[in-house]
Amino acid sequence: MGDDSTSINADYDDSKWRSLNLPHDWSIESDFKKEFPATNQGGALPGGIGWYRKTFTLPVSAKDKNVNIEFDGVYRNSEVWINGHYVGKRPNGYISFSYDLTAYVKQAPAKNVIVVKVDNSQQPNSRWYSGSGIYRQVKLIIKNKISVKDGGIYIIAQPEVGSKGSLNIQTLIEHSSHNNEEFDIRHEVLDNKGNPVADENFHSNISMRLEGPETKYFFTLGIKNPVLWDLANSYLYTLRTRLYVNKTLVDEVQTKFGIRDFNFDSEKGFFLNGSPLRIKGVCMHHDLGALGAAFNKAAAKRQLKILKEMGCNAIRTAHNPPASEFLDLCDEMGFLVMDEAFDMWQKRKNRYDYHLDFAAWSKQDIEAMVLRDRNHPSVFMWSIGNEIREQFDSTGISITKELEAAVNALDPIRPVISALTENFPEKNFIYQSGALDVLGFNYKLNDYKDLPARFPGQKFIATETASALSTRGVYNFPSDSMRIWPPDSKGPFTKGNPDMTVSAYDNTYAYWGATHEASLQAVNRYNHISGCFVWSGFDFLGEPVPYPWPARSSYYGIIDLAGFPKDVYYLYQSEWSSKPVLHIFPHWNWKPGQMVDVWAYYNNADEVELFLNGRSLGIKKKMNNEMHVMWRVPFQSGTLKAVSRKNKKTILTKEIHTASKAARIELKADKQLIKANGNDLSFVTVRILDKNGNLVPDADRLINFSVSGAGFIAGTDNGFQADTVSLKSNKRSCWKGMVFPAQWDPKLGIHVT
Ligand code: GAL
Repeated sequence: MGDDSTSINADYDDSKWRSLNLPHDWSIESDFKKEFPATNQGGALPGGIGWYRKTFTLPVSAKDKNVNIEFDGVYRNSEVWINGHYVGKRPNGYISFSYDLTAYVKQAPAKNVIVVKVDNSQQPNSRWYSGSGIYRQVKLIIKNKISVKDGGIYIIAQPEVGSKGSLNIQTLIEHSSHNNEEFDIRHEVLDNKGNPVADENFHSNISMRLEGPETKYFFTLGIKNPVLWDLANSYLYTLRTRLYVNKTLVDEVQTKFGIRDFNFDSEKGFFLNGSPLRIKGVCMHHDLGALGAAFNKAAAKRQLKILKEMGCNAIRTAHNPPASEFLDLCDEMGFLVMDEAFDMWQKRKNRYDYHLDFAAWSKQDIEAMVLRDRNHPSVFMWSIGNEIREQFDSTGISITKELEAAVNALDPIRPVISALTENFPEKNFIYQSGALDVLGFNYKLNDYKDLPARFPGQKFIATETASALSTRGVYNFPSDSMRIWPPDSKGPFTKGNPDMTVSAYDNTYAYWGATHEASLQAVNRYNHISGCFVWSGFDFLGEPVPYPWPARSSYYGIIDLAGFPKDVYYLYQSEWSSKPVLHIFPHWNWKPGQMVDVWAYYNNADEVELFLNGRSLGIKKKMNNEMHVMWRVPFQSGTLKAVSRKNKKTILTKEIHTASKAARIELKADKQLIKANGNDLSFVTVRILDKNGNLVPDADRLINFSVSGAGFIAGTDNGFQADTVSLKSNKRSCWKGMVFPAQWDPKLGIHVT
């Protein structure tokens, strides 16, 4: 990091520079500090300017070919030079982009130098932690002069009536040198094992006439008895496209796709492949906790696994397109994705945010999102913006129409949505544009009922719910009194807990939100609400409402920043999954006689009975649309046991015990074997236990981590939002008995002291 513009020269001496691997985020490497210009709203981590240089030699086979470089995301204001030649800039930090380097590269054995400047110095430019640097994958692509254009395959794959599926394939061929030559495009569908689907090969010979640098071809192809992509069986086909010139293979592209169909109904909600499906979604920012913004597939997969276990079936990528590999995971694991472009248009939310670039870049940026993501079966809606200020004035009409037209030109199939706050039609200019296919509303759950009357014939989804707050493992009594933190938009927020915690009973929320339970009840009540996206799935860096520094990450998550579920995780699991659930909390270490509220989340049962040291504390049943039950119990140490029953038959039992003093440290790796690919991770959960194996709920010991072998510690975290020790530190205190180090690479031995 630093700002030395002479480094664009190919012969610059970079031998003193740090050597690192991509993806990389320099912000996350720092300690948290109040004075960082990114402020605690942006995660209390620094922005700044960074330069990257890479020297490389092309393979001999690159001669006479096109050389392109693709960046999946660089935060932000990147500029690129190759061998001293400037090739371009990209202000947007979340968009994929590429440059044609052909004119400037040198053939082997000569060396090439690519230089990237990243400028995240103007702060604040985000409402959450952005990270800084080349934080997603970069690819050098060497192709023949005639080839399938990057993003040039577009597949509309839908089940047809009867037992057929239809594929409409658009192929965009780039030809910078070939004129009037015979060429042949062959499309082949492969099943999920990579075998060609019988009798479905398709090819076409076309005599090409060059009328510009690119030509588009359209094919229609049928598949008999297709296996549909759905959430339980996320079946992926591959389209293999081969391009031959004079019978010689010049390019081959493989594109994964799924065959599926969906629709929104204004009264009945959402349908996938003809069956009704409630959208059980969460909003997710792009950071990966201790790894910062640096994308890591293993870490993203872990997040999605935890969400899948909870019964979640959809992700809203707030408020920007995700890493492309994130969508691969959603395709493979069976999630629907609302792919979102922007958090602001021309009207700003922060002084230096994208509003400065919107007029010049938004068309190109939104097109890049759609081109990159339109073959993913997981992607089911394009969001053109979140809580956009232009809702409130007539400029909203023209911008909405322009964005919708840009999206539609590249993908006429998926609905265009925007996450709105204004739910009166006459005051909402984005709605008045007439260009939205589905209306997304954030919060204001008391208005769900009136939406069909206000917006006749429209389709609805709750694009944001909850904004409820909690810290894992913290319990304040009484649990049934509501806390609205902050209470309104007026003054500075002065209440809250002095230690910057928020109770994990679902009773605290920001004034624009509601508890998780109330939000779920409201969504469940109305069929016309297709489902919801909870704010938020995981805690994320930045936006630590309700507290100022030293709080530096959010309290909104159902799951904490370290990936440990908070208690409300089991609320969603009991409502959203078919898995039998019985979860009781809090822990059982209190003062003798203290009144403790014991809550249970459960499903698949009619009642729960609670016992303290063998004595029944009574049977409770969820009444009406309640989603939890509660007992107020004078504390006595020992064993708290819950039994859930259906028709008098025991379904599940759960016990918690009063823990004695800390006796041992337990380590549990989520993966025993990790691939030696420099990117794989094992998340090791460390728990402090007493001699009987009970979690010690108030353990806050400092743990030192070290690794032997080829691995290293990629980060440590305990999930507490106001812990100011760098997430890259090898030392971390436990929070409520738990902490994790995440490690990369194999042959691990991990040592804790
Ligand atoms: C919403 C906003 C989100 C986040 C959330 C916090 O209004 O769209 O980005 O700020 O509030 O409650």
